[in-house]
Amino acid sequence: MSYSRIVGTGSYLPPRCVTNDDLAAELAVKGIETSDQWIVDRTGIRQRYIAERGAKTSDLALHAAKAALLDAGIDASELDLIIVATSTPDFVFPSTACLVQAGLGNRGAAAFDVQAVCSGFVYALTTADSFIRAGRARSALVIGAEVFSSILDWTDRGTCVLFGDGAGAVVLRASDTPGIIGAELHADGSQMDILKAAGNVSHGEVVGDPFLRMDGQAVFKQAVTVLDRSARSVVEQAGLTLADVDWFIPHQANIRILNFLARKLEIDSAKVVVTVDQHANTSAASVPLALDVARRDGRVRPGQVLLLQGVGGGFTWGSVLVKM
Ligand code: ACO
Repeated sequence: MSYSRIVGTGSYLPPRCVTNDDLAAELAVKGIETSDQWIVDRTGIRQRYIAERGAKTSDLALHAAKAALLDAGIDASELDLIIVATSTPDFVFPSTACLVQAGLGNRGAAAFDVQAVCSGFVYALTTADSFIRAGRARSALVIGAEVFSSILDWTDRGTCVLFGDGAGAVVLRASDTPGIIGAELHADGSQMDILKAAGNVSHGEVVGDPFLRMDGQAVFKQAVTVLDRSARSVVEQAGLTLADVDWFIPHQANIRILNFLARKLEIDSAKVVVTVDQHANTSAASVPLALDVARRDGRVRPGQVLLLQGVGGGFTWGSVLVKM
């Protein structure tokens, strides 16, 4: 039986950092009022990185992918699976994964996108783990990448202050010893209306509403409920307890969600990796970005147990338990 292990991580943020004060000043020009205090109090966000207009998700993904491959010490030609989790793909097709593949100079690996919004990375990681365990791949690149700034209504202060752009990646390899030790994915399509970007292009015209819309309070309630339930369930199925988890790396939507979750799970909030203050909510990129930050600053070390969790539009959620 083959297992999969994380052997490298990487991430990328666009160069332009926009603080809450910068954003408040930009919105004030349009007559929209917000403040650093409102944003920090309600979300914990202090700044976000915003890609230049026209920047593509595949560009960000490629940077993160190269960093992860370098960290893993493997060449792109060795990959036999590339999965990109994104809700802001460059095109309808080809997939962002195929664009990354071309950018890396890999030929022949299976490459496809996964769309599960802010749960996208845990969906993609679970998919790659399943390929490797089934013997259908040996070396996989799994990326979460978004240019969420491209789907925000910059006149809606209730949503545009919450998000940022970025990418994170991991390299998974087949191994005789377990790395990914548990995973579970869920969705409830009946909750589709609480978080959506319900537009598309048809016959060359935009149909529906292409911007992100959210019922913030409904998302908050749903997120803390499903993350709590899923954390307990995935840990129990692996024969562990929450006390065995060294680092909790949940989707970075909002510091109040993270604190509420830590209280519900009765865990020390110092064990929760937090990047939402620096990156804001980068959707599918938030978990691999946070993982890479915590690995590079020395918090996450070999042998430790991590709980990665995603939650987002669909409504979707999931958890992956990892031994580093
Ligand atoms: N600046 C100043 N005032 C604002 C802003 C802003 N950026 N945005 C909204 N307000 C105002 C509203 O207009 C409203 O004013 P009113 O009382 O005069 O009508 C007031 O603030 C309260 O608005 P609410 O929407 O009720 O604010 P709430 O306390 O619910 O906070 C928030 C909004 C932060 C989104 C909250 O609902 C929340 O934390 N939700 C969790 C969802 C989340 O984080 N989503 C991220 C994406 S989803 C995901 O990744 C899973």
